Amino acid sequence: MKALILSGGKGTRLRPLTYTGAKQLVPVANQPILWYGIISIVATGIRDIGIVISPETGEEVKSKTGDGSRFGAKITYILQEEAAGLAHAVKVAQPFLQDSPFVMYLGDNLIQSDLIQFLEAFQSQQLDALILLRPVSNPSAFGVAKVDANGRVLQLIEKPRNPPSNLALVGIYFFANSIHRAIAQIQPSARGELEITDAIQNLIDQKKHVEASQLQGWWLDTGKKDDLLEANRIILDTCLTSNLQGTVDERSQVIGRVQIDPGTQVINCTIRGPVIIGKDCYLENCFIGPYSSIADGVTLIDADLEHSVILQGAKVIGVHQRIVDSVIGQRAHLGQAPRRPKALRFMIGDDSQVDLV
Ligand code: DAU
Repeated sequence: MKALILSGGKGTRLRPLTYTGAKQLVPVANQPILWYGIISIVATGIRDIGIVISPETGEEVKSKTGDGSRFGAKITYILQEEAAGLAHAVKVAQPFLQDSPFVMYLGDNLIQSDLIQFLEAFQSQQLDALILLRPVSNPSAFGVAKVDANGRVLQLIEKPRNPPSNLALVGIYFFANSIHRAIAQIQPSARGELEITDAIQNLIDQKKHVEASQLQGWWLDTGKKDDLLEANRIILDTCLTSNLQGTVDERSQVIGRVQIDPGTQVINCTIRGPVIIGKDCYLENCFIGPYSSIADGVTLIDADLEHSVILQGAKVIGVHQRIVDSVIGQRAHLGQAPRRPKALRFMIGDDSQVDLV
């Protein structure tokens, strides 16, 4: 059994954050989204992992993630020259996959459940495909399944205008090698992509053995700002443990579960967990409220924030109103304003500068 993680694509939905970076590397609780997928794959015992990358962001994914040794896995990078669809990515990866069955994992998906139960179901029933479904309130944004009374999949439609159900396809699939023949038989969709949804539909039409399992627990497709903040909140809530390695002066107060990494200085601040603060940050006269993740090398002075994600090297100095529900990009600067507007909510991209008036 192998694994294929899709980390290519254009990432237009998290713009401007992903103009300069891969959306799969945006951190959730200071760890790239992509790594959560790798960790849950390795937990099933699968060690041979291919990662599909794009020409635009592939080098960054490679240099950050490495050869897999930090995860106890072997990673092979597979370049997909253009984002021509999820099934196209499988086609490009065929020399890596060969005839092996595999789990395909979309690099911007995060789920709570372990994968092992699904892997066991896939293997024990010798399926051609096992898909995971989850009820959602906005099915038109996903691949959608029409199922019969027994839960058997009748039809799959990609982003339908009139969804036949509220059951969305989760971005985690288990395939036997019969998927390659199915992909060879499909044509690009109206949006010009080779859709994996159409390839699975082809398996169903050929009377191959396709089953669906309902996913329990949370699932996040982190392509959008609010999903990213929600993923951050859930991971901090469920996974963070206290660990103070930076220096915190005696005027500061640290309450609840807080992680502060080495090289970080905290001066006269109140930090109310769950909060994670990376390496080599400088915080002075700040209130950092629950569900905030602050990446390495961030400077926060006279700042007040909560439920926000601050990326590497950003600076927030002298913003006296509370910053909430915000994502601030790498190296962005957020400065002081002489007059204070009433409410501020941000989605600020890498290298931005914001001067409030
Ligand atoms: O998240 C679940 C949804 O993922 C499913 O419900 C849909 O059926 C499925 O098509 C997919 O839809 P998205 O619109 O979310 O796919 P997106 O274009 O965001 O791509 C998903 C991941 O795959 C992302 O990490 C980028 C990567 N990718 C995408 C394309 C189109 C590639 O590596 N190569 C590609 O050609």
